[in-house]
Parts: sequence; structure tokens; C-alpha cells
Amino acid sequence: METNSWIPILPEQASSFAWQIDYLYFYLILISVVFMVPIVLAIFFFAVRYREKEKYASGAEIHGSIALETTWSVIPFLVSMTIFLGGAVVFYNQYRIPDDPDMNVYVVGKQWMWKFQHETGQREINELHIPVGRKIKLTMTTEDVIHDVSVPAFRTKADVVPGRYTYLWFEPTKPGKYHLFCAEYCGLNHSGMGGFVYVLEQRDFDNWLSGNASGATPVEVGRDLFENKLGCASCHAGGPAQRGAKLEGIYGKDVKLVGGQTVKADDEYIRNSILNPGSQVVEGFQPIMPTFKGQVTEEQLVGLVAYIKSLSGVTGTNTLGGTGGSSGTTPPTASGPASNSTAAPRADRGAGNTQGSNPNAPGPRREPTNSNR
Ligand code: CUA
Repeated sequence: METNSWIPILPEQASSFAWQIDYLYFYLILISVVFMVPIVLAIFFFAVRYREKEKYASGAEIHGSIALETTWSVIPFLVSMTIFLGGAVVFYNQYRIPDDPDMNVYVVGKQWMWKFQHETGQREINELHIPVGRKIKLTMTTEDVIHDVSVPAFRTKADVVPGRYTYLWFEPTKPGKYHLFCAEYCGLNHSGMGGFVYVLEQRDFDNWLSGNASGATPVEVGRDLFENKLGCASCHAGGPAQRGAKLEGIYGKDVKLVGGQTVKADDEYIRNSILNPGSQVVEGFQPIMPTFKGQVTEEQLVGLVAYIKSLSGVTGTNTLGGTGGSSGTTPPTASGPASNSTAAPRADRGAGNTQGSNPNAPGPRREPTNSNR
């Protein structure tokens, strides 16, 4: 199945920007050869031509030559600028995340495995199934040390760092099975921390999705935590009991903090507000929110962030309240958007003690009643 790119030692080109990186490499190699060959030849030529004929002869004195010095400064300058410009273009194509990805996947690294979660609830370990020809965005973090997601066939990689989110995107261009590596030394089994990315035709991907038991989606996990397990709703749900900032419509907006500072309410801000609430208190509120550090796993945090995003109508595919403005106006009280679920809290499938168990095991789940997938 593996067919190589036009440079035989490189892995297959399987993403939309893979060829650009290969051209850039080829260009760098070409420049190196173009400079190296004349220099090596000149070394041999001069060694012969100007070899020592009499002992202790001193060479002729050389005074500067403006023309020569200008030439050997300007040409390398121009050459290095083409490297800079080419590199910058490739870099931006590779690391500027598209605003409108077709698919979001959440990634949590852990010694020593990769956990992937789809927006539709499917979970995978050390395997990632994605459709061909779609822009895939990865939102990544780690539960312990720094890891690094690397897919050589896509010519892209990025560190995953504890305590923050990093992002990666790619558009696979060819169905196939591609190696996935951890590219940051992370301890004993670093070399075994990898797996495969399966790029499927859309039809096959749809089959895979429907044939794979989906657990709760990130939004559902987040809503359950928000309303039941962590009790966020008791302060953030609006009404007379509201003591915390209103969260509907907040995502992507600028938030004024105590002290006059303004921050953008992005994934990072939401995550930080849950773990270090005292560090970024919203103007007009008291710093009374307790920290949830140590009480939520990274996967649960991903769910909470996804849920709070969904309150602003920002998600990929299946969200609650996809039928219109209802989610924007209804506070997430226990009788709100959750009314289609059973009132009893479900067994805690997201807790830390279930890590390492089969992510696709049929857990306590409800059928999506307002599904629009
Ligand atoms: Cu994880 Cu190396």
C-alpha cells in the first residue's frame, strides 16, 4: 500500500500541504549542492595550483575589493531571503488553523497512549479514523508530560503540552493507513506510543461512524458535568441565584476582567477559568468560584469547553438545541436543554478510574433525541 513520494526516501505524501514541505526540502538540498560542489572543486584546484613551491614563501598582499565583497554579501542575502519566504509560506499553510474545519477531534496524550475523541462521541485509542478530503482540526492536551503528535505522511507535528491546548490541522488527500508517532521523548515507553491514522473515503467513514458505538459526545459530557456532577449551573445558570458570569454567547467574545484587562473567551480562557478561577475574574463578579483543579480530567475539561462553546452556538456538527435559538436563550438549568435526558445522574464514565478501559465499550448512554447528524 505504501507508495513513496517522488523523493524515494521520504514517506508518502498524504496531506494537502505535504508537497510544499517536500519542495522546500528539495530547494534547501539543491542550494546546498549548488554551493558545495564549486567549493569542493575549488579546494582541490587551489591545492594543486597554488601548492607550496618554495619554503616559507609569503603570498602577495591583497587589498579589499568593494565589488567582490558586495557580490558575496548580496547573493547569499537574496538566497537566504528566498529560504525565509518559502519557509514562511509553508509554515503559515501548515500551522494557521482554518476557521471552518470540517471536523474537530479532541486529543489527550497520556503516558503512553493517544486518546482521540470525535464530536459525535466515538472514542479511540492509538487509532484515528478520519474522512479523506476534509479539514481536520485537532485540539490537543496531555494529562502528564509533553508529548508530540506526529504524522509523517501528513508532514506535520505539534507538541502537546500539559496545562494548555495546542492545535494541529491537516487535510488528508489519500485514503490509507499512516503511522502516528509520539515525537517527544516522554519516558520509558515513548517509542511504543504511537498508532495509525486511517484515512477513509467518506462513505467508509460514515459506515465506520455508525458501526462504532458512540459514547456521550463532548458536549453531552460537559453538560452533564455542568448541570449535575460539578454543579456549575447553580451559580452560572442565571436567575436570582446567579453569582457567576453568564456563559451563553460568551465564546469568542472579549471579556472585561477585574482590573480593566480584557481577554478573549477562547478554549484556553475557559479552561483556565475552571482550573484557576481567581486568576481572571470577570468584571462585576466576586472571586468566589472554587478551583476545580484535580477534580476534572483533561477529557472532562474538553467536554466542559465544548459545552460552553455550544452555549454560544459554536460547535461542529451535532449540538444540543440545533433547532434554532432555543439554546441561546434558555439558561442551562436542570429543566432546560437537559430535559430530554433522564434526571438521574449517569454512571461516571468519564472519571479517571476508567482510563485505559475500552473507550468503545457500551457505556451508559442515551440515544440522541434531537440528533441532526
Ligand atoms: Cu509520548 Cu513520547
